[in-house]
Amino acid sequence: MDLWLIAVNAFWLIAPAYGSNAFPPLVGGKRSVDFGRTFRGKRIFGDGKTIEGSLAGILFGLLIGSIQLLFQPALSALISPYGPFIFLTLPLVLLLSMGAIAGDMLGSFIKRQLCIERGKPAPLLDQLDFIVVSILFTYLFFGMALEVIVFIIIVTPVIHYVANIIGFVLRIKKHPW
Ligand code: CTP
Ligand code: MG
Repeated sequence: MDLWLIAVNAFWLIAPAYGSNAFPPLVGGKRSVDFGRTFRGKRIFGDGKTIEGSLAGILFGLLIGSIQLLFQPALSALISPYGPFIFLTLPLVLLLSMGAIAGDMLGSFIKRQLCIERGKPAPLLDQLDFIVVSILFTYLFFGMALEVIVFIIIVTPVIHYVANIIGFVLRIKKHPW
């Protein structure tokens, strides 16, 4: 596949996950998903993972994915003559959105177990946790070209990092990571 085609497919596929991950900081709920409970003496996820934020994130990912589904026939007609085009479906969008929130929580779980406090940086984990579960499930259930996976894993930390600095400057995020 040409690089531009890999890029189009990668961004098209991962957009609902990006949406799910970007939205919770704007909502910033109060009820912790782990209800303050601990595992091995550490908070399971910590106060940065809330029920409100998680639900809002999934809904926003669904919204992004639904908008994409509207434009999909047109984009596919444009791209298909040049090579493969990944088709989003509603179940796939749901999986990507929920996978992003679940992956982000898994990242926080790992951080807590490693004694990294809420909000403290964990390089690469902070930038990649949310796509790992999305990609794994998509790969298992729907299949996914390897070059698209590699592209997403290389490009996402850069985008995530830049987006978080913007969020920090706009005071949406407390920390630039
Ligand atoms: N957030 C939320 N629910 C989620 C994910 C995020 O409410 N499922 C909100 C929280 O207000 C959180 C903010 O978005 O503080 C930023 O998210 P993130 O950077 O992932 O959390 P951190 O506070 O940095 O915590 P952690 O160290 O666990 O990553
Ligand atoms: Mg964080």
